[in-house]
Amino acid sequence: MQTSAHEGHQAATPCDAVQVLTPGHRYDILIGAGLLGAAAAWQDLPRALHAVVVSNPTVHAHYGQALQLALMARYPKVSTVLLPDGEQHKNWTSLNLIFDHLLATGCDRKTVLFALGGGVVGDITGFAAATYMRGVPFVQVPTTLLAQVDSSVGGKTAINHPLGKNMVGAFYQPQRVLCDLATLDTLPDRELRAGLAEVIKYGPIADMAFLDWIEGQLDALLSRDRQAVAHAVRRSCEIKARVVGQDERESGLRAILNFGHTFGHAIETGMGYGQWLHGEAVACGMVIAADLSAELGLVDRSLATRLLQLIERAGLPTQAPPMPMSQWFELMAVDKKAADGDIRYVLLCAPGQARMQAAPADVVERVIRRHTREPGTAAPPA
Ligand code: NAD
Ligand code: GLY
Repeated sequence: MQTSAHEGHQAATPCDAVQVLTPGHRYDILIGAGLLGAAAAWQDLPRALHAVVVSNPTVHAHYGQALQLALMARYPKVSTVLLPDGEQHKNWTSLNLIFDHLLATGCDRKTVLFALGGGVVGDITGFAAATYMRGVPFVQVPTTLLAQVDSSVGGKTAINHPLGKNMVGAFYQPQRVLCDLATLDTLPDRELRAGLAEVIKYGPIADMAFLDWIEGQLDALLSRDRQAVAHAVRRSCEIKARVVGQDERESGLRAILNFGHTFGHAIETGMGYGQWLHGEAVACGMVIAADLSAELGLVDRSLATRLLQLIERAGLPTQAPPMPMSQWFELMAVDKKAADGDIRYVLLCAPGQARMQAAPADVVERVIRRHTREPGTAAPPA
């Protein structure tokens, strides 16, 4: 579905707000259609002489002008830095492009950065904000479903390393998250589905009623019904805000948000960044993690089957690409949850509950094999 930025930014619909409250910080996630053009959405942000928009050419072509207009009403100088598009560019080179721009244009400690884009732009911009002059304010303006329901919220910022996803980063909270639902109108279908993976994630780990709702509303979500999407974004943000509020730095509880990610990150890194979308890899990772939970007797197998069926219905991959078992374990050992040489997995321990624990390697191996497609069969997602 393609909509021009102008069509997408007429009057804002009523806006929801979800608050994130961490020990050192409080901010709002604003959710509504047309927020980019709504003056109220930009009120009370930090004052500065200079605002810098960080985006990529794809997103900027759609929404750069609308954001520039909104910011010009508040900041005397607004400039833009564009990063190359894609997960394979979530690296030092892109980060340095931001620093080059900030230094070349004389940005000081009050300069406010605005991340306009998906999780890649959001994660890099957040890391730049965390480290430029030891920290400048930043605002998340997420334009993918995945970024609106997950990556823009909670202050995890990072770049990738060739040996591991998100291995270099910082916890650094934004000043505000502004989810303009109208921006999702231009999102390619494959990206919408990838975002649904993170929406689905919240059900089995935190809220079975939400899982019921997603199952019932999947067709509406896939056809971008505005009300259904608004509910999915709001409920996802509520759950994430609650978890982050209790454990901002992932000393325990927050790890549940990584359900499916140990396997998913291994697929993303193993296949080469950008081959599998993050949401696709997480979807397949959740199928494996749910099956592992059932195999270990933590939950009834019917929950794993239910999740697999929903992921399949959402058009997301349920089978991992063929990868040597030694590579799986090498990649999973680099996961940030690994401790004292043990790989730790986020597993379902009851419907709507998850926890982190180690698992015997032979069981993990058996479950991975069960969910791996034969070499030479169906290509990776496209
Ligand atoms: P992405 O940022 O690569 O965006 C996906 C694609 O959609 C890109 O090509 C982008 O240019 C395009 N796009 C974005 N908005 C668009 C729009 N409105 N219309 C048309 N095209 C648009 O991918 P993503 O799925 O948003 O984010 C994935 C990243 O998020 C991964 O790097 C992952 O590690 C990270 N992530 C971080 C967290 C966190 O807590 N910080 C959580 C989950 C994921
Ligand atoms: N997406 C995982 C987290 O924010 O903790």
